[in-house]
Amino acid sequence: MNRDVLDTAGSELRETLIRAAGREIPIRIGRGAAGDVGSWWPERWKRALLVTQEGVPIPFDIPDGVVVSYVEKSEGAKRLSTIERLASDAIKAGITRNDGVIAVGGGVVTDVAGFFASVYYRGIDLVNLPTSLLGMVDAAIGGKTGVNLGEGKNLVGSFWQPLAVICDLDALASLPSREWRSGAGEMAKYTFLGADRLQSLPFDLQVYSCAQIKAEVVSADERESGRRALLNYGHTLGHAIEGAFLGRGEESAISHGEAVGVGMIFAARLARGLGRISAERVEEHLKVLDAFHLSPFLPQELEPEEVIGYLKVDKKNKAGPTFILDGPRGLEVVEGIEEEVILREIEEFAGWSG
Ligand SMILES: NC(=O)c1ccc[n+]([C@@H]2O[C@H](COP(=O)([O-])OP(=O)(O)OC[C@H]3O[C@@H](n4cnc5c(N)ncnc54)[C@H](O)[C@@H]3O)[C@@H](O)[C@H]2O)c1
Repeated sequence: MNRDVLDTAGSELRETLIRAAGREIPIRIGRGAAGDVGSWWPERWKRALLVTQEGVPIPFDIPDGVVVSYVEKSEGAKRLSTIERLASDAIKAGITRNDGVIAVGGGVVTDVAGFFASVYYRGIDLVNLPTSLLGMVDAAIGGKTGVNLGEGKNLVGSFWQPLAVICDLDALASLPSREWRSGAGEMAKYTFLGADRLQSLPFDLQVYSCAQIKAEVVSADERESGRRALLNYGHTLGHAIEGAFLGRGEESAISHGEAVGVGMIFAARLARGLGRISAERVEEHLKVLDAFHLSPFLPQELEPEEVIGYLKVDKKNKAGPTFILDGPRGLEVVEGIEEEVILREIEEFAGWSG
């Protein structure tokens, strides 16, 4: 998937809602969705801190009273010292508890700006304007915010719902190809969460359908006590792939969403091995990945042993790795799969080339 798909997007603005934090949160999607600032700027705000990164387009004319604060252009921005620096910028800019935070960027920006908004003066308003595909279909929706520690990702954070999520598709025109592929992997995931004809829709409706599913899931399970966990389909092996590259001190050869795509294929093969789904259903998974132009194969650079090491390393998994698996009742969280079964499937998967 690349920016050419923007050509299939109509000019209509669409809106869906999340019910969370005791209110309705609009998610507006379309080309030019952010341009009319008055349509999303809350009346009570006099000022706002706009958190973004260099190179990210700001899809509206910045009004008076907005101070722009840049964070590092990588996952490294998600650390506690960034929160301290944003707080200091906000104090200097005179941002009070009646003002707000505007996050303009990908998931890194919305995670860090959201966490900042949740703790500044014990919590101020936030509006999310995601500019990456992954942000529009996933990270900016749902109220999870956070930063990383040396010990792991997203270990300090909060649930802090924005007032609105504004997905201006025009912002995607400058998104790098790797980030398009990453967003595509997360979009492909929604096919198995109810959007089964996703690929046949024009691009704006694809984004809308994914956002709508995420909104429904979050509305039903804001704090991830049940169904929300299903949004992690493909992520168990996906995270192990990313961990294995990180462990080598290398940038992952594939993006997060691509790793999730590979993880979904592995999950489908594992589900078939456990007798939960048929070989035809595995084929359907492959067709979906193909439609999103994603590779289903484990990156050749990785040895199966490395990936297995990262599957086992997750200390939360007392009963072995937890997988989200397809089955007769749809996706389910499955724990306690015998290690031998997982090892056998990974070895077969690593040797599989179509
Ligand atoms: N809170 C959640 O529910 C949630 C869900 C999924 C992911 N996440 C988090 O999101 C992060 C990943 O987000 P991401 O995939 O958006 O990556 P990202 O935020 O790192 O953005 C990727 C790169 O694209 C650049 N970029 C973003 N929009 C651009 C645009 N329109 N034009 C040009 N460059 C642009 C960014 O500056 C960055 O360099 C991770 O930290 C992950 O943990 C959070």
